[in-house]
Amino acid sequence: MPQKTLLKGRVLSFLESPFATEPTRATNTHEAVLIEDGKIKALGSIAKLSQEHPEAQDVEYGQHLIMAGFVDPHVHYPQTAMIASWGKRLIDWLNTYTFPEEMKFGDPRYASEIANRYLDLTASHGTTTMCSFCTIHPESVDAFFEAAQLRGQRVVAGKTCMDRNAPEGLRDTAQTAYNQSQSLLEKWHGVNRLSYAITPRFSPTSTPEQLEAMGALWAKYPQCLMQTHLCEQTDEIEWVRSLFPNARDYLDTYEQFGLLGGNGLYGHVIHLETRERERLREVGAALIHCPTSNTFIGSGLFELDDLMRQGHRIGLATDTGGGSSFSMLRTMATAYEIGQLQGTALHPAQLLWLGTVGSAQSLRMDDCIGNIAPGLEADLVVLDLASTPDIAQREATAEDLWEAVFPTIMMGDDRAVADVWIGGNRVSRKP
Ligand code: GUN
Ligand code: ZN
Repeated sequence: MPQKTLLKGRVLSFLESPFATEPTRATNTHEAVLIEDGKIKALGSIAKLSQEHPEAQDVEYGQHLIMAGFVDPHVHYPQTAMIASWGKRLIDWLNTYTFPEEMKFGDPRYASEIANRYLDLTASHGTTTMCSFCTIHPESVDAFFEAAQLRGQRVVAGKTCMDRNAPEGLRDTAQTAYNQSQSLLEKWHGVNRLSYAITPRFSPTSTPEQLEAMGALWAKYPQCLMQTHLCEQTDEIEWVRSLFPNARDYLDTYEQFGLLGGNGLYGHVIHLETRERERLREVGAALIHCPTSNTFIGSGLFELDDLMRQGHRIGLATDTGGGSSFSMLRTMATAYEIGQLQGTALHPAQLLWLGTVGSAQSLRMDDCIGNIAPGLEADLVVLDLASTPDIAQREATAEDLWEAVFPTIMMGDDRAVADVWIGGNRVSRKP
């Protein structure tokens, strides 16, 4: 007998992109969602679903919002313990805080401790899938996949490759990066809900030989995602120009080595040249907006409105620990504020879409996660829209769902996360 569960509350699903239509018309709400064997089976009224599935176990969420779990397509789980480190910009921040912390991940016990801590914290924030950079150590990749596998979670991760401009102990070579990435990919890609992403950190920390090796690996496994960083800070771009004097621009340092493609995820992409924008769009690459990181490290303002209008595929991410939060709600709030600085007020439906469907599309996983629709995997977050006194007093006067949701987007955190379901299993909310 299959296990059936009927979740009752305000179930929110997306019918289309709220960037392509009037935002309130992009969504639907239902009274209940039925899950069976880890998948979403049906959406509808309580009366209809209870009558059709009398054996289903009921879970009552009252006025809580039930939506797809958050999808975070650019994170560094090894930076969990050094999030919110003070006072540096990108290159100094990497050298001062990030590299010393990443050095510790050659120890499988430490890697496992942080992987589990990270997955506990993000589950408490309602994030059910993420795409993570690991460190150069294969142990860091094994630790993350093992922790996610035990939780039945859909995650993407890869060994972060670096063979220059990083300290001794954090450098591999073109050949070892290729060999280790390949054996990790063979070991984990497609096992349960796990996927491997080929992961050159960024052009300054890879020699042309290593970028070429990563390009060759991607050509051999084109079904895999490839993740990296692009055009985050102006100083970084200057550095790339001096390291690759013959490249047309920063993107070209990837493109010339076969590291530009539709399965590529490019983090930050703030200071893009026209040619770079056009090439990224032509190939259908995913651009990942990391708003709390871009303000925290002082990188700049991602041009969401322009890039969306130009037809780019865009995901929304925390970039933990360059980002200042594990929460996709805090990330949406900062995306909203950055939009306001640029003269665009993002609608709450657009913010929620970016953190679910949009991010799932950036991972090419929207056929299995990121929304509530029959056949998709049952990864869900249940939001309490009155989780603190300050949010509750504002929500109390809301005249529609969007006015009720927006205070939680702007002021909410893990206290707003009433429950989380991963692969049809209820997850204990707090670590
Ligand atoms: N560029 C290269 N590595 C990193 C990183 O770890 N974080 C951020 N924000 N940018 C990077
Ligand atoms: Zn990053």
